[in-house]
Amino acid sequence: MIKYLKREKVFVLNGKSFTYALFVNKADFLQNIYFDKKISKNKLIEIANAADAALPCAEDKNFDMGFDKMPTEYAFYGRGDYNEPTAVFERQDGALFSRFRYKGHKIKKVLPQLGVMPCVRGAGDTLTITLKDDFSDVEINLNYTVFAKYDIIVRNAEIVNRGENTVKIRKAFSFCLQTRENDLELIRFYGRWAKERMPEITPIGHGITRIQSIRGTSSHQLNPFVILKQKRCKERTGKCLGFQLVYSGSFAFCAELSGNDTLRVQGGISDSFFSWNLETGERFITPQVLIGYSDKGLGGLSSGYHDFIRNRIINPDFAYKTRPIVINNWEATYFNFDDKKICTIIDAAADLGIDTFVLDDGWFGKRDTDTTGLGDWFVNENKLKGGLDGVIRHCRDKGMSFGLWFEPEMVSEDSDFYRRHPDYIVGKRGVKPAMGRTQFVLDFTRKEVVDSVFDAVSAILSRYDISYVKWDMNRSLSEYFSESLAPDRQGEFFHRYTLGVYDLAKRLTSRFNDILFEGCASGGGRFDAGMLYYFPQIWTSDNTDAADRAKIQWGTSFGYPISAMSCHVSTCPNHQTGRTTPFETRGNVASLGPTGYELDLTLLTEEEKNLVKKQISDYKRTAGLVLTGDFYRLCDPCKGDAFCVCIVSKDRCKAYLVYTAFTDMKKEVKIKIPCLDKKGTYLIDLSDERVSGKELTSIGITVSALKKYQSIALNIIKLQE
Ligand code: DGJ
Repeated sequence: MIKYLKREKVFVLNGKSFTYALFVNKADFLQNIYFDKKISKNKLIEIANAADAALPCAEDKNFDMGFDKMPTEYAFYGRGDYNEPTAVFERQDGALFSRFRYKGHKIKKVLPQLGVMPCVRGAGDTLTITLKDDFSDVEINLNYTVFAKYDIIVRNAEIVNRGENTVKIRKAFSFCLQTRENDLELIRFYGRWAKERMPEITPIGHGITRIQSIRGTSSHQLNPFVILKQKRCKERTGKCLGFQLVYSGSFAFCAELSGNDTLRVQGGISDSFFSWNLETGERFITPQVLIGYSDKGLGGLSSGYHDFIRNRIINPDFAYKTRPIVINNWEATYFNFDDKKICTIIDAAADLGIDTFVLDDGWFGKRDTDTTGLGDWFVNENKLKGGLDGVIRHCRDKGMSFGLWFEPEMVSEDSDFYRRHPDYIVGKRGVKPAMGRTQFVLDFTRKEVVDSVFDAVSAILSRYDISYVKWDMNRSLSEYFSESLAPDRQGEFFHRYTLGVYDLAKRLTSRFNDILFEGCASGGGRFDAGMLYYFPQIWTSDNTDAADRAKIQWGTSFGYPISAMSCHVSTCPNHQTGRTTPFETRGNVASLGPTGYELDLTLLTEEEKNLVKKQISDYKRTAGLVLTGDFYRLCDPCKGDAFCVCIVSKDRCKAYLVYTAFTDMKKEVKIKIPCLDKKGTYLIDLSDERVSGKELTSIGITVSALKKYQSIALNIIKLQE
């Protein structure tokens, strides 16, 4: 799948349906010459010859200016390239300029190991191209991995100091890709707390468009995932490319359209306020980026990411394992609970067929409000008489499993932990750190801090019978400063913090490898492929309102599989929006992911209890589809009058469709279901109707007129021939 055409100096990387080709030009600069549907070797050689001829630098080894037109694979700085560089290094004398040329390459069946940093699992064909800086002893290894089954290229870069002096890295992005394709649009996923990952499509204007987070987390505000699409690319037709970082900290993507109409896209760890001292012989490893290719529209791009993330990012022990149906007490009680209240919720849950109780925030220390107790990971026995043992025993007696909430990265000022270790927090001595949710951030750049949290959390996880952990994180970082880092290393702070989080996640998930970890950061503030490597599912948003959630899940599905989106039914009026939606609608929207409930079950009416029972038995029929199926976006809730999505099994024998009206519908609508077997006959469960696959795909299924916020869910089952 990776070939090197030695005579022509062309690297050919083939994925499932694309070719990505690189070329070492006559002056030894590495260029991208092609990224599109598969083409022949001869065609590529023609393109390479034309590329060489087009660039004056290719003819003249001393050519120094005008590199911004060259479609570079990793842009240098200050030597004739006036677009944004991909990496910048400061040498001892303060010089920053660089120029990277091809030095050598290797092709192997491996995947680079990134230490605690998440990376794609399993082997793939990997090309490593080494570039050497003309003006220093810095080398750059560019890694590319491709797979016969996927339309994804995995890229990252390693910066290696082969010199005798320390080099200060000021910027080291993971990738750069330059194209001459015009007419492209950018999709970013923006938001805020309770409104995460809203797709926004914009033209790319001249100059630099920068998508970034400098919060220390991948953030609610902008996700580390962007799409470049042709204007005419739609949900199921047209070409688009995705760029998704396997990283959970501060990041940046830059799209720079030059006056020459070349577009340079690049990204990685945010270079704002970043630096890294690279000592002699050391290497700096950048996070991986998953570059997706689709000539089958945005839907094709998303399916590619869904399969890849399920098969190559998420822990295989959990990726396809049936997820628990959860009752979480947060919106039922907030901090106001005791063992009796919790046991009544467990009793109600057991009667309804829910299998796991998750005890959220407030079970530890003196945690009666969000102002105290974080860091004191021991059970509050005033609140829970009989401790966790009593609650867990009660769960077990009812045939249920038990899950527990932690916020490992944080500490309250009013906590024993902080009183013992006031020096363990992020910030500078003598400067009172900014408070977020009245809490401080622990300095995870320091091993002893991570060790102490590991010990405290491990003590609880080893002592009790716990099958599920919700790992929360409720504020952005500030005062990027660690007392343990030398003054000239403070720029390393935020990446080291992220590595500390990964280190703890790695240690906890490997020591407690039968526990399902759910990620969370004030809802969906750290929803990224880096977190999914350690946590198979993530609490998608604190917004549990079905109408808003439909939009959030819609936006999230562009880059991430629905099996990663934890979704719960909550009460109405909704606590975040005040909106009332029917119970069925809440259930339908929450059925599109690992599901559960987030309300006081003891307050349900008999009718609602029956609905919960029905939702659970229905969910058990579709849970497999949520984990393994192909997901289709059919009606866009962010634009139109309805939300409609469908999951189809890989063998096309089963489909599950959810339709929710956002206005009163005047008449029925027809929804075409993609990818069913046109020769087959399907049974629609609600109506008992039999319809041919041909009709379902070309004319569609009938959805009768619904009132605003009403919803239906349909199972479509292929009949045996
Ligand atoms: C934010 C989370 O997103 C909520 O689900 C809940 O766990 C609270 N934190 C608890 O403090």
